[in-house]
Amino acid sequence: MAKQIKLLAAGLGSRWGVYADYIARHPEDIKVVGLADADPKRLEAAAHSFGVPETACYTDALDLFGAGIEADGAIICTMDALHYPHSIAAMQAGYHLMLEKPAALTEEQCRAIRDTAQRLGRHVVVCHVLRYTPFYQKIKDIIDSGVIGEVCTVQAMERVEYWHMAHAYVRGNWRRADTSCPMILAKSCHDTDILLWLCGKKCKAVSSFGSLKHFRPENQPEGAADRCLECKYVDTCPYSAKHQYIDRVAGGYTGWPVDVVKKNPTVQSITDVLKTSPYGKCVYRCDNDVVDHQILNMWLEDDVAVSFVMSSFNSKSGRTIKVLGTLGDIEADMGKNEIECTVFGKSHEVIDVSKLGLDLGGHGGGDDRLFADFVALLRGEPVNSKSLTSIERSMESHFVSLAAERSRVAGGQVINMSEY
Ligand SMILES: NC(=O)c1ccc[n+]([C@@H]2O[C@H](COP(=O)([O-])OP(=O)(O)OC[C@H]3O[C@@H](n4cnc5c(N)ncnc54)[C@H](O)[C@@H]3O)[C@@H](O)[C@H]2O)c1
Repeated sequence: MAKQIKLLAAGLGSRWGVYADYIARHPEDIKVVGLADADPKRLEAAAHSFGVPETACYTDALDLFGAGIEADGAIICTMDALHYPHSIAAMQAGYHLMLEKPAALTEEQCRAIRDTAQRLGRHVVVCHVLRYTPFYQKIKDIIDSGVIGEVCTVQAMERVEYWHMAHAYVRGNWRRADTSCPMILAKSCHDTDILLWLCGKKCKAVSSFGSLKHFRPENQPEGAADRCLECKYVDTCPYSAKHQYIDRVAGGYTGWPVDVVKKNPTVQSITDVLKTSPYGKCVYRCDNDVVDHQILNMWLEDDVAVSFVMSSFNSKSGRTIKVLGTLGDIEADMGKNEIECTVFGKSHEVIDVSKLGLDLGGHGGGDDRLFADFVALLRGEPVNSKSLTSIERSMESHFVSLAAERSRVAGGQVINMSEY
């Protein structure tokens, strides 16, 4: 029988819920032996679910990693700014890591994590879950097979749904660059990673434009209140907290993002919370500063041009991509799980990824596959080497995101990646 892996977990919020679900379904593979969360209620709930004794539960991740608990690895799902101190402490204490993205917020922090991992011989799997999705793996297979020739141009788009933007990047945890990080790192480091991975080339230069155009005080409708439940537009504004949360609960839905505002809500309890919570604020009266739309150009080795657009003005979520090669092209829509591949003058195929008989739950099937690979890695078993996020490769996508933000702030200046 394969070895049961012992894991610690720090940061028991929303993202942990995904991994906790995986662990609960694979008790023979994983045992949780220590936990940390600043919120005692979350800590207690997780300890209860996995039978972790009180003596192995801490309200600070640094205390957990300093406690000398015997474990193979640690999952770090604290918020962005804590990833750096928590990952360094965990590696120094002897643990391999599954580390949420963004791995770190600055170039120096990224380098320190990479150097510490290399010096101490720790695995650091950064949670770039898209690499593990059947959708992107199929696109990668087609590119690597050579049927579309040499890739010349890639055009990709991340459609952030309008309500997702309001929830996470206007009212929520990722609304400010100083307490979280710029949007291109927080949300789109998935994209910089996947685009570099698909092309298999290094990035030579980037440029970027973008701004916070809409979610600003001057766009607040006349006579609107600063909290949705007191506002005359509560039933007509598309960003109304009533639509986003209360109406969903009334319709029987209590999952993400509603559960971020209130766990197991009723209409009454979520209404009460929204009277004082940041999630009940007018989207034009928050202290947000991250962009709501941005474009990024990347110039890769061998003259490959990549253009990426992130916009929050979308009715639909999901990523789209076009890969244009010398002998054919790929046009794909992750929202529809559809990949269209044409080999010029020869063939045209439409692949419905949902019909490949694979599990597509949780980031298009990426969440479970990433976790399974981490467990295999710790057991010394073969892993999906095509997808596995090496810390080196992940650093490159973080550097591209950081360079893109520098470029955006400088009005689109070209940044040569040799500076990184
Ligand atoms: N890979 C992905 O696709 C993906 C998706 C969503 C979120 N994320 C990332 O996951 C991370 C967590 O996001 P989330 O939505 O779960 O946030 P969250 O706020 O729901 O959870 C963070 C948890 O950390 C706890 N915490 C704070 N300080 C702590 C400390 N010192 N020690 C231990 N715990 C502490 C908080 O109490 C909270 O429960 C973020 O970095 C986010 O960017 C990644």
